[in-house]
Amino acid sequence: MAQKKGPELIDGRKVAAIVKESIRKEVADLIDNHDKSPHLVAVLVGNDPASETYVASKEKQAHQVGMMSSVYRFPDTITEAELLETIDFLNNDDEVDGFIVQLPLPAHINEDKIINAIDPKKDVDGFTPVSVGNMVLGKPGFLSATPAGIMELLKAYHIELEGKHCVVLGRSNIVGRPMSILLSQKNEQANATVTLCHSRTENMEEITRQADVLICAIGKPRFVKASMVKEGAVVIDVGMHRLPDATKERGYRLAGDVDFDQVFKKASYITPVPGGVGPMTIAMLLKNTLSAHKKEFQQ
Ligand code: GUN
Repeated sequence: MAQKKGPELIDGRKVAAIVKESIRKEVADLIDNHDKSPHLVAVLVGNDPASETYVASKEKQAHQVGMMSSVYRFPDTITEAELLETIDFLNNDDEVDGFIVQLPLPAHINEDKIINAIDPKKDVDGFTPVSVGNMVLGKPGFLSATPAGIMELLKAYHIELEGKHCVVLGRSNIVGRPMSILLSQKNEQANATVTLCHSRTENMEEITRQADVLICAIGKPRFVKASMVKEGAVVIDVGMHRLPDATKERGYRLAGDVDFDQVFKKASYITPVPGGVGPMTIAMLLKNTLSAHKKEFQQ
């Protein structure tokens, strides 16, 4: 575990760049060998500004590693049936290796129904029940990008997890729950003891203060205060909030789930927002897209 003096920033941009460079090389080799370039599609419904930003970034970074990328845009008036037709089309389009449906979807569309319709062979977000099942069982398959990215960051910084107490804040299907499973997995990169805290947890501070590694994915800006963190803990901040700020040209500033200025002094390692977990999510999505193209998880 981190026995260092003074906090160290975990540089997600640097680690993501290394992951993406290895993907770029592999894609270049595929093309040299007359294979097609992997193709990622994002389905974007409505015009949520954060979703627009994420999808634009996914497209740009797919191009950076030599992949093809398309965005299927729909107004938020699209019906569930129409969206299901699109999923069916993408499932059967041989020109598409993998696709994601950007969440959240409008309230009149049942997210579970949409995710269930995605062919697990193209599920590069790792959200379908088949992908989640494989992850829980420790079988090969697409891993949800943010938790996989966090595991990659911990590995890159040689943060020992075996036998350590990892506390995960938040039980979302996208981050908290899969994170708790990956950390407790029986393998050399994990083997941690895990506690999953959520909105109904009693005495949360007592629990978080025991954490050697604290994963903050509770979805509330600056929720994690210094009093909740043990001296020398590793703190991973998954939050990404836009706080109104009139002094900024764009009108907001970004904040995580961690009150960084307070917690920084206590942590041995900490991820900043932005530039921590965020860049890893897209890098892992691209990694999944390459795996889909190579049909790595198809027997
Ligand atoms: N919304 C927020 N994060 C994600 C993600 O990783 N994938 C998708 N599809 N939607 C999201």
